[in-house]
Amino acid sequence: MDNIENLTSEILGQIEKALDLNTLEEIRVSALGKKGRLTEQMKTLGSMDPEERKTAGQALNVAKDKIAGAIDEKKIALEKAEMDKRLASETVDVSMPVRPKQQGRIHPVSQVMEEVLTIFAQMGFDLAEGPDIEDDWHCFEALNFPKNHPARQMQATFFMGEDNVLRTHTSPVQIRTMENKKPPIRIVAPGRTYRCDYDMTHTPMFHQIEGLVIDKSTNMGHLKGCLLEFMKKFFETDDVSLRFRPSFFPFTEPSAECDVGCSRENGEFKIESGKGWIELLGCGMVHPNVLKNCGLDPDEYQGFAFGCGLDRFAMLKYGIPDLRSFFDADMRWMKHYGFLPLDIPTVTSGLSFNAGVKK
Ligand code: DAH
Repeated sequence: MDNIENLTSEILGQIEKALDLNTLEEIRVSALGKKGRLTEQMKTLGSMDPEERKTAGQALNVAKDKIAGAIDEKKIALEKAEMDKRLASETVDVSMPVRPKQQGRIHPVSQVMEEVLTIFAQMGFDLAEGPDIEDDWHCFEALNFPKNHPARQMQATFFMGEDNVLRTHTSPVQIRTMENKKPPIRIVAPGRTYRCDYDMTHTPMFHQIEGLVIDKSTNMGHLKGCLLEFMKKFFETDDVSLRFRPSFFPFTEPSAECDVGCSRENGEFKIESGKGWIELLGCGMVHPNVLKNCGLDPDEYQGFAFGCGLDRFAMLKYGIPDLRSFFDADMRWMKHYGFLPLDIPTVTSGLSFNAGVKK
């Protein structure tokens, strides 16, 4: 039985050296498979005499067990090595910081600006812009404020050297638009405006939006219809009533102030008709002198304009009591009144759908 022992130690040697599971499987097949070397030896037992068969049979069984045992052991060792290799190459760094919770918020003024522009865009208005630093012509002169006229004192102007001012209103964008474009004109112009003023409802920098419509027969009925449609969409209710009170602005004739119906019950402010009024904006028919100043013939063209404070709209819609807090950059205030960045207002999916249910 010398050759069985030799065969066994040869196969055990191969098993020992096997570097992967495939090689090990090949060794198993070549030793113990149907045509394996030990299996072939087993087949010779039949032709032996009984005594010889007994010894050879026992020796073969012992060899078979040894080899099978060695293969099993090696298999476990190779599987473990393979797993260790994978674990080493596929590490997850559990000490990495988690993705930080979203901290930033959209400011209520930005939110309201988006809402207002979304509505006017749907009504067919274009967007117009002008500079924050304006010259006297665009900010006052062309808007029919005569030099040294007391109307100039209505607006606490920041002067910037010789001829320039920080614009006190967005109305100069009316002039810039009419200077550069022939009617029909239908624009809204949002932006920053500046006046030397500071209390609960005034800050030196604030935001306005200007509207201008010029065509051949545009009239105050159109102005009223346009504002009513806008207010319904913006305040998200059909129960809106508007009141126009005669007023004075140098650049409109006639001029009006527009109030919206509201209620103030148990400290709660609500837009609804029939209870009370709150002032919202200034408006009127564009003054013939303004049209002339922009090179438009007042006998051919006419139109309306309006201008209002966006911050005021934000305060009314979202119940924010103090305008000064808008500019404090206080994250606690932003968390309370701000909006999540992915909640973009649209007329169809909702303008302020996230208000009150956020965070
Ligand atoms: N520019 C005015 C202001 O800031 C607001 C205003 C009133 C604008 C009447 C207009 C308008 O376009 O027609 O007080």
